[in-house]
Amino acid sequence: DEADEQSHFDELIAAEQRIEPRDWMPAAYRRTLIRQISQHGHSEIIGMQPEGNWITRAPSLKRKAILMAKVQDEAGHGLYLYSAAQTLGITRDEMTQQLIDGTAKYSSIFNYPTPTWVDMGAIGWLVDGAAIANQVPLCRASYGPYGRAMVRICKEESFHQRQGFEILLTIMRGTDAQREMAQDAVDRWYWPSLMMFGPPDDQSPNSAQSMAWKIKRFSNDDLRQRFIGMVVPQAEILGVTLPDPELHYDADAGRWNTSEIDWTEFHEILAGRGPMNAVRLQNRRAAHEDGAWVRDAAAEYTRKHAARTAE
Ligand code: ACO
Repeated sequence: DEADEQSHFDELIAAEQRIEPRDWMPAAYRRTLIRQISQHGHSEIIGMQPEGNWITRAPSLKRKAILMAKVQDEAGHGLYLYSAAQTLGITRDEMTQQLIDGTAKYSSIFNYPTPTWVDMGAIGWLVDGAAIANQVPLCRASYGPYGRAMVRICKEESFHQRQGFEILLTIMRGTDAQREMAQDAVDRWYWPSLMMFGPPDDQSPNSAQSMAWKIKRFSNDDLRQRFIGMVVPQAEILGVTLPDPELHYDADAGRWNTSEIDWTEFHEILAGRGPMNAVRLQNRRAAHEDGAWVRDAAAEYTRKHAARTAE
């Protein structure tokens, strides 16, 4: 009965075993996974846009090839994640509909503009760096299909992070004007990348339960701290300044001390009022509508093929 199922589930979680699609799971565990995995998939799909913006204007053939590969990886990540979510009983159509209706969340970070080429460097370094800090622990998420998808995604994210760092390193070896552009991009992306980790722990409604279920392994604030620890020495190597005069390591507390994050900006973006929210969704909707004939043709092919094999 239900109580036995629940205690078997609890034992699996306690023993660091994985929950697989056909296993019994609490309805709330299923719901939270659908929520997180679909939001994560949507983030990858919407996340193609800020960088897609620069593919046609990349400064060399080599840079263009690298950027195209990166954006294609993001499409792939979105597809693995949608597949992982489908194992929980939601369809790809339902998820797509929620995204284009504007009822699904996706990461706040993709609602900022990319006005310069150097933004490709700052995104790779900071945004993909934050993604790695957040996602490496998700490789151990208790739900099998999610954790396994994350392994490959994280390998690709580390290539993305390195390519961003290398763009910035190259620009920083250029002219004064180029160094100023790089610093400007770092100034614009640093705070939004800290917001990617989500609200502070005491304002994160989902964290405690997701950690008890071993979906999340670390709290939002702990991961934000790790990320800061990772980028501080990298900023030194690059020669850029992180735009926080308060930033320093508090050895007694064993934590990075930072200025207050602008949570009003974060909540405005989540409410759909960020600088690029409307554009991102409009582009996604248009792409979906433009692809309608392909879906119709595929469905018609399947129908004809099935009819022919039935003859
Ligand atoms: N952007 C948009 N929404 C966010 C963000 C963010 N940066 N951070 C938190 N939220 C939302 C949560 O989704 C949640 O909303 P919901 O309850 O309606 O779903 C709400 O704010 C409260 O946050 P938490 O209680 O902390 O939510 P949660 O436990 O899900 O933690 C987190 C948020 C850390 C983003 C988690 O869902 C996660 O690790 N997701 C997987 C990684 C991911 O989605 N990355 C996307 C960007 S990186 C990339 O490579 C595309």
